[in-house]
Amino acid sequence: MKILILGVGYVGLVTGACLSDFGHEVVCVDKNVKKIDDLEKGILPIFEPGLDVLIKRNVEARRLSFRHDLKKEVFNSDVIFIAVGTPTSVESQEADLSSLFEAIDEISSILAEDQIVVIKSTVTVGTNDRLFEYLKSKEKKIFSVVSNPEFLREGSAIEDFMKPDRVIIGVRNDISERIMREVYKPLYLRDFPIVFTDPNSAELTKYASNAFLATKISFINEISLLCEKVGADVKEIAKGMGLDGRIGGKFLRAGPGYGGSCFPKDTLAFTSLGRKFSAPQSIVEAVIIANENTKKRMISKIENVFESNILDKSIVFFGVTFKPNTDDMREAPSLSIIPELLEKGAKIRIVDPKGRSQGESLFRGAIWFENPYTAAKGSDLVVILTEWNEFRALDLEKLSARMRTPYMADLRNIYQASKATEAGFEKYVSIGR
Ligand code: UDX
Repeated sequence: MKILILGVGYVGLVTGACLSDFGHEVVCVDKNVKKIDDLEKGILPIFEPGLDVLIKRNVEARRLSFRHDLKKEVFNSDVIFIAVGTPTSVESQEADLSSLFEAIDEISSILAEDQIVVIKSTVTVGTNDRLFEYLKSKEKKIFSVVSNPEFLREGSAIEDFMKPDRVIIGVRNDISERIMREVYKPLYLRDFPIVFTDPNSAELTKYASNAFLATKISFINEISLLCEKVGADVKEIAKGMGLDGRIGGKFLRAGPGYGGSCFPKDTLAFTSLGRKFSAPQSIVEAVIIANENTKKRMISKIENVFESNILDKSIVFFGVTFKPNTDDMREAPSLSIIPELLEKGAKIRIVDPKGRSQGESLFRGAIWFENPYTAAKGSDLVVILTEWNEFRALDLEKLSARMRTPYMADLRNIYQASKATEAGFEKYVSIGR
């Protein structure tokens, strides 16, 4: 099939590359001319493991291309995926749909009735209906508008697309269902669950899934504080809970709070939706508050290492991206933690395998290093904030020996207190242990 992808962000680019790998003829368009020019030269606007190889292979096979002329590409396509950004709107806290409607306005006059518009972006419930009515009223034609929310995790997005737990597709008619089965045929043939439902349910499933995952994280993060008070080990509790098939062990890793371009945005949009329809989502409201409290707690935890006097203390952060294997800094806990420490007079050093490109302009006064041991030289505290593999097997003796005061705040519970002490760390703090 001929597929057009509108928007080459994290979701659009991965979707386009994977669909072309399925054998479809995919064209990606974006109004950001530089992004398209770069992609035509094989330069990617984002870091996602394996994406460069996947794109290169499909561009060479002439299944994937990057173009500027939207109208021409719409005309030649069977299915048009809209994967533009839907950031949090400042006023309503809901998803800002302006880019989505801009895209629709641009293409609606040339859409043919047998073409399918697929909303890939995360949108508030009812958007598909709104778009369908808008197109009908504007163009007096009946279109198929399909909802196909993504469940990709940054850092494992290709794996999540190629081997999904499920594909959720909101359709209004059999023709749309038939065409979407064709789009996802390679998954369908390998028995990955493809769930067809109505558009509203598809839109709400996306929000409910992310809200529930965020709930698990805030749940274990609040329990970790209790663990610190009563002397229990949150990792042991997560393990004991997770062995219950009804709970599951995933997303129960206590840490400095969730970040990224989805959980913070989607939980806000979800609670705003609840208030709008007088169906308050009080649990998710509490999840948001708990996440903010967790990030604040990390600042206190770091200050308490120095009995709250952090002026002129040299603090090295290992990792600032919101999670490993990405360059994405959006809503990363580091954005709440580091500026406050800088303001209180701490000297901040940062090591992050991929974070510098997006992070350098975000932490005024911080000094970036490539090597953790060089960064730690003469420092007073090492904070492990993002669990990059590079920080999972450090030579702790070598690290502590280079420090002015060998203290460690392990905010991802990678190491054991006993091992850190044996290796020369005089103070070792972590989460919930
Ligand atoms: C998430 C959802 O997982 C994905 O399905 C959706 O499509 C987009 O949002 P993503 O934000 O890329 O994906 O990353 P994810 O791995 O879910 O982590 C989100 C945040 O939660 C990160 O800050 C991570 O550090 C944190 N997290 C995750 C925890 O603190 N503990 C955990 O156990 C898991």
